[in-house]
This record gives sequence, structure tokens and C-alpha cells, in this order.
Amino acid sequence: MNKITVIGSISTDLVVETSQLPKIGETIEGDAMTMSFGGKGANQAVAAARLDANVAMVGTVGLDDFGGQLIANLESNRILTEGVKRVTHSSGTAIIQLYNNDNSIIYVPGANNAITTADIDAVSETLLSSELVLIQNEIPQAVVEYVIEFCHQHKIQIVLNPAPARPIKAEHLEMLDYLTPNETEYEVIFPGQVMSETLAAYPNKLIVTHGAEGVYYHDGTQVVNVAGYKVEQVVDTTGAGDCFNGALSTAIVSGLNLKAAIQFANLAASISIQKLGAQTGSPSLAEIKDSEHYETKWDIE
Ligand code: RIB
Ligand code: NA
Repeated sequence: MNKITVIGSISTDLVVETSQLPKIGETIEGDAMTMSFGGKGANQAVAAARLDANVAMVGTVGLDDFGGQLIANLESNRILTEGVKRVTHSSGTAIIQLYNNDNSIIYVPGANNAITTADIDAVSETLLSSELVLIQNEIPQAVVEYVIEFCHQHKIQIVLNPAPARPIKAEHLEMLDYLTPNETEYEVIFPGQVMSETLAAYPNKLIVTHGAEGVYYHDGTQVVNVAGYKVEQVVDTTGAGDCFNGALSTAIVSGLNLKAAIQFANLAASISIQKLGAQTGSPSLAEIKDSEHYETKWDIE
């Protein structure tokens, strides 16, 4: 299938399950700790690769043991890693507290912040042979902007998942094909702007995910709300947005129309939250097709 290049963070997640949260200066006992693979970039790459997209990853990891494991994990998910460079920083880490079905995350970029525009130049051939580039905000803003400009100049489709939130310059917003904030990221990018009006200003481009409410976009005529899928037992929502973005990108390069692509991505994300860990529950194409909610009109090869 089609080639997607994901540019972004590759991290180790330290997931702590806890039934209480510490106050400043306090020590409490948690319930469990699990180390798992994460980083929004890597999560999105894995989500797309599990759905049989051909995926190349671009990013930076440390020379430490974590760095080797992070690369091996990508490779075991069939992701090309020539574009993953090793640098003399500690590999990226996220400390994730799972509390009452919700999470709070401290992200320590480490090596992820060492990526430069020269690293993007070094993979220009990979980018030029891609049908779509998917990028997030866990790497320096200057690099994100450089990639947006490169893709625009060379007419490569680009999706920016603006997570974590930071403002976007108007010129870069114009150059994007898709922008996929969640509702809180939306508020940072479009402060005080009525969502229906912003959606109408960026039809078929601005895709706002809104947890249980589903996804909103404007189809050129009207605002469309694409409902999500109910899950009986939510285990861990960490990485659900990443799964959504990886699946959405896969569906787009496979030629699904935007509404079908969003439905497909919603279903993938709903399956992903039924397992602990950001990547663990990210479904294969076979798992998606097995779902009672699967619709044959979404068939992709
Ligand atoms: O989106 C979830 C990811 O963000 C986690 O895997 C963690 O690495 C955090 O930075
Ligand atoms: Na999960």
C-alpha cells in the first residue's frame, strides 16, 4: 500500500496506574508501573503500519539502551527507520499517570528536541517519494514549520496533528492539507473563535476531535459531526488521538473520502483504548474488519 512518512517523537512511556494523586511534597503508593513504547510520532507511525500502510519514520533517539529498543520496536512493526538518527541526548521519555480512566503526562523530549532542519534535508528523497507526511508538535517548532514549507513547495500532502498545542502562523495553516486538533488544542490555535465558523473557514481541512462527542469538520456545505464508537471497557486512552491520526492518514492515502476516513479512524481509535499502553491496542486491519461496526465501504487494500 501507499507510503506515509511520519516525522516526530519516539519515546519510552513509563505508565503509572494510581488511585490517588500526590500533592506537592507528598509521597503516595501507586498500583502498578508499566514501560511501553510511545511518543506521538512513533504511535502514529505504528497505527498506520498496523493498518498495512508502508511507513517511514523520521526522528531522533538517544545512543542509550532506550534508543536501540525504540528503533527495534519500530522495525518490528514493519516501519522503515533509515530516517531515525541517534544523538548524544537521552532518549525521549513520558511519565504518564493513569488515574480514574484519565491520564496526565509529563513529556521530557530529550533526543526528540535534537532534530534539526538539516535532518529533514537529509531525508528529502524519502519525503519526495511519500504520498503523505504526518507530523506533530513533540519536536521543535522550527522543524515542523520547515517540513510544512517543504511539503507545500513539493506538493506532498501534509497532516499536522497539533499535539501538544502551540499556536500556528497563518501562512503555515494555509499550507497544510489537514489540521487535526482536539478540542483543547483548538482553543490554543483559534482562541475565542466560534468553532462552527472556524470549521467553515477551513472546509475539509480542519478536523476537530472531541472525545465522546465525535469529530467535527465542514464539508464545504455544512458542519458534519462524525460520531465515535462506544466502548464497553475503556482501559487506557493514552495514544487514542495518535491512533486516530495514523488511521486517518492511512485511509486518506487509500482514497477513502474524508467522512469515511474519519469513521475508519474513529473505529481504530475506539479499539486502541481497550488495552494498556499507547501502541499496544492499536488495531491491525484484520482486527478492524472483525469489528461489528466495520463497513465494507471502507475497504482498503
Ligand atoms: O499521545 C500519547 C503520547 O504522548 C504518549 O505515548 C507519550 O509518549 C506522550 O508524549
Ligand atoms: Na491503548
